[in-house]
Amino acid sequence: MPENNIVFEQLSNHHKEIDLFEIINKDTLEAYRIKYIGTKNILKELFGEIKNVPNERKKEFGQAVNALKLAAEEKFQTYKAQFEEDTNDQKEVIDLTLPGDNFPLGARHPISIVKNKIIDIFKKIGFTIAEDREIEDDWHNFTALNMPEDHPARDMQDTFFVQVNPDVVLRTHTSSVQVRIMENQKPPIRILSPGRVYRNETISARAHCFFHQVEGLYIDENVSFADLKQTLDYFSKEMFGDGIKIKMRPSYFPFTEPSAEVDVTCFLCDGKGCNVCKHTGWVEILGCGMVDPAVLENCGIDSKKYSGFAFGMGVERITMLKYQVNDLRLFSENDVRFLKQFSGI
Ligand code: DAH
Repeated sequence: MPENNIVFEQLSNHHKEIDLFEIINKDTLEAYRIKYIGTKNILKELFGEIKNVPNERKKEFGQAVNALKLAAEEKFQTYKAQFEEDTNDQKEVIDLTLPGDNFPLGARHPISIVKNKIIDIFKKIGFTIAEDREIEDDWHNFTALNMPEDHPARDMQDTFFVQVNPDVVLRTHTSSVQVRIMENQKPPIRILSPGRVYRNETISARAHCFFHQVEGLYIDENVSFADLKQTLDYFSKEMFGDGIKIKMRPSYFPFTEPSAEVDVTCFLCDGKGCNVCKHTGWVEILGCGMVDPAVLENCGIDSKKYSGFAFGMGVERITMLKYQVNDLRLFSENDVRFLKQFSGI
């Protein structure tokens, strides 16, 4: 009887072994086949043991051995089918300990680099970011900014109209965001609105049908032109270098009064005169002015109590000056040879 027990115990051990045998790829499947299915499989010797089993248990033993053989066969077939389905051998040999593939990192777009730099500079003096829609209505892009219908300044902006509705335009400047903010917030307001703008211009090295602007707006009690000048002086030095001087030239924008354009000393030639500054020693970087009281009133802000300044600059323009890019089209062609030059800046 003890001998019988040993034979039955062997049987159940084989069962366990077969269950636990890990088949993870074609090689382990083959090892399994040799061990349990092939001509010299280890289950065969169990059949020989039947002579040691007493007659009354022979039937039971025979059935158990057959069941074991079937279980071994079934497991083999299941895995065999699975690996045959996997025509892609990759799946069976994934070695998770191997180092991963190297893939090259892209670089930030120069327009984003400069835009982020402008944002960082103004964040330090308390400006927060305000962004809004690129498809605007006439009121926010023009009328509220002192450009009623038929105002000649509208022509300068080569507007794209959306479908046939002349009330819906692709914004021609980010000044539309100042209107939206003033309509919805009470002073003090100190915002910077970066974004894409559109103009129906013939594409050339100097002009494009879309580009990027950053608009600044500061409204509070007693904001003066001196605050504007100080702010822009700070910005220019942070952006272009400590030795930079600014010059404000009188100009005209419908939404500011007085208005000015700002030049900085040419940082390439130190003001001595070169190709970039067309030998004047100065380069223009932005437009600005004191927000026209009529614009404040259009947006529901009491112009007797509050005053403010605004400025707007083209990100492409600043980028071209700073990195001496001479063709605006390069920014939208996505040629990696061009873009790569700005990694690490
Ligand atoms: N919106 C002007 C443009 O697109 C730029 C500008 C000029 C914005 C003066 C301003 C400003 O806020 O004060 O040409």
